[in-house]
Amino acid sequence: MAPVLPATKEHVRAFTAFVLEHAAESGQDGMPPHALQPDRSGEEVEAVALERWSRPLTSPRWGRAWLLWSGPLPAAGPAGFHDPGARVVGHVELQGGRIGAELHRATLGIGLLSAYRGQGHGRRLMQAAIDWARGEAGLDHVDLGVFVGNDRAKRLYVSMGFVEIGVRHDAFRVDGRSVDDIEMTLALRA
Ligand SMILES: CC(C)(COP(=O)(O)OP(=O)(O)OC[C@H]1O[C@@H](n2cnc3c(N)ncnc32)[C@H](O)[C@@H]1OP(=O)(O)O)[C@@H](O)C(=O)NCCC(=O)NCCS
Repeated sequence: MAPVLPATKEHVRAFTAFVLEHAAESGQDGMPPHALQPDRSGEEVEAVALERWSRPLTSPRWGRAWLLWSGPLPAAGPAGFHDPGARVVGHVELQGGRIGAELHRATLGIGLLSAYRGQGHGRRLMQAAIDWARGEAGLDHVDLGVFVGNDRAKRLYVSMGFVEIGVRHDAFRVDGRSVDDIEMTLALRA
């Protein structure tokens, strides 16, 4: 089974390649277009990821990611992975609150390359992030937004305990089209 592992700074190149590939798939395959920074260069994606992954959990806008890898991997050494065939095919990321008063919450984002969807990997990625948020990070809530019409993603979130708290109308403009966003939250200490 494809491994799900916490991201380290050694993985940032493979993560960036994934982000660009995933962004290029937006709008294909019946998938709703979504904001995955397709307008950023690889260097910018890499720099921004490294910056948020290195922030302590006491600092606003920290980030922690878990990566889904294709293929068998050798044991991870201090320099990261050495298997040249291994690549990142999915990710989940938690981002901490925007100000100090919001640090008991994180916002979750997730995405997989189309060839890897519908095989249980999304659920495994979510579980890794939620377990860490509840345990090691000691957070109280995980929030997320899902485009109206992204039924596959919404079904996954509901099955993991997220509840809908409202709809943000006209949240995004994608190719000139207005998109509403369903806001969902998971209470970790309920
Ligand atoms: C949404 C996404 C992360 C889900 O991950 P996934 O690996 O495809 O989902 P899983 O295989 O783990 O399935 C989890 C649940 O999703 C739902 N699901 C999966 N495939 C589905 C399909 N083809 N149709 C409808 N629901 C489906 C089911 O509820 C499933 O639960 P089950 O395991 O009890 O059947 C993934 O499809 C994806 O990356 N989509 C494109 C990007 C995206 O939409 N990101 C989310 C933005 S909010």
